[in-house]
Amino acid sequence: MNTEAKGGRNSKPLDRTALVRDLTRLGVPRGGLLMVHSSLRSLGHVTGGAATVLDALLQTLGPDGTLVLPTFTYPIARDPDFVFDPLRTPSLMGAISDAGRRHPCARRSLHLQHSIAAIGPLAETIVTAGGVSAWDADSPMCQIRDRDGMYLLLGVPYQNLTAVHLSEIELQVPYRKPVRNERTMRRPDGSLVPFASIGCPPQPGHPGSDFNRLGQRMEDAGLVRVGEVGNAIARLLSGHDLRRAARDLYEQDANGFLRQDGLVTPLAYGHTLETDRGEHCVADPSRMSGTE
Ligand SMILES: CC(C)(COP(=O)(O)OP(=O)(O)OC[C@H]1O[C@@H](n2cnc3c(N)ncnc32)[C@H](O)[C@@H]1OP(=O)(O)O)[C@@H](O)C(=O)NCCC(=O)NCCS
Repeated sequence: MNTEAKGGRNSKPLDRTALVRDLTRLGVPRGGLLMVHSSLRSLGHVTGGAATVLDALLQTLGPDGTLVLPTFTYPIARDPDFVFDPLRTPSLMGAISDAGRRHPCARRSLHLQHSIAAIGPLAETIVTAGGVSAWDADSPMCQIRDRDGMYLLLGVPYQNLTAVHLSEIELQVPYRKPVRNERTMRRPDGSLVPFASIGCPPQPGHPGSDFNRLGQRMEDAGLVRVGEVGNAIARLLSGHDLRRAARDLYEQDANGFLRQDGLVTPLAYGHTLETDRGEHCVADPSRMSGTE
């Protein structure tokens, strides 16, 4: 791993130019469709924080590209009094995703737990697709995968690759069942209306997910571009490859997406650390922002 070239603990802060360089080198496609799951602190110190990373992603994709961020709202959506306000309810999926939600050109899909924000020419098409389910074949999330959008894991493991749930639903795994939730939504004019969404939570007794197993298999098969963006280990893969690989794994092992003996598959490349906030994939743990 090329940690030395980027300096150690005292390396200089990342700016937009350095981020664009690393994202381009990784293979983020100009004009492409890209969904990003991220951890800001994994990158090391970034001048300007999440807004700079967002700018860098948009610049790398260019004006013909579409950027998608998860703006999920669980666990707060479990509160029976939860009011989903698409314009104001923050994303709970990290600072970069929330910066995307607040971008003046962002469009947000409507879902109590699994909304997404999109910026770019395909944004409107994607966020308005489908009905009340986050996972159906016509849902916004499926649109991304089925248009062969790419997924970027920026400093986080495959455990955060939400698109694997699409395969779980499509393959009709027995441990997830649709559940309809009814809450309230605030419309742009301030009025409150009843609002329903369908999710597919795990059934009682679910042992926990191991999406790292699928991801590591894809890496071993050469289907993932792995590199460094700043201090973050970054992984880039295509929706079509993910769908095929998930089907192959499930056909071989019906427990392929589940933890065995409570364990998650370790990732071969870089360091995967757990903090009180979540999991982080980094080249050098001492360079994570906030660990000084
Ligand atoms: C939970 C998760 C977001 C936590 O990651 P994180 O890096 O600690 O948090 P964020 O991305 O929100 O970044 C904020 C942190 O970056 C750090 N930070 C602040 N300014 C910074 C800067 N300029 N440069 C770099 N890091 C900075 C701080 O530690 C900050 O935490 P604080 O607000 O508590 O001080 C991450 O582990 C994760 O799971 N991301 C994926 C989420 C997802 O898409 N899930 C899909 C469904 S499972």
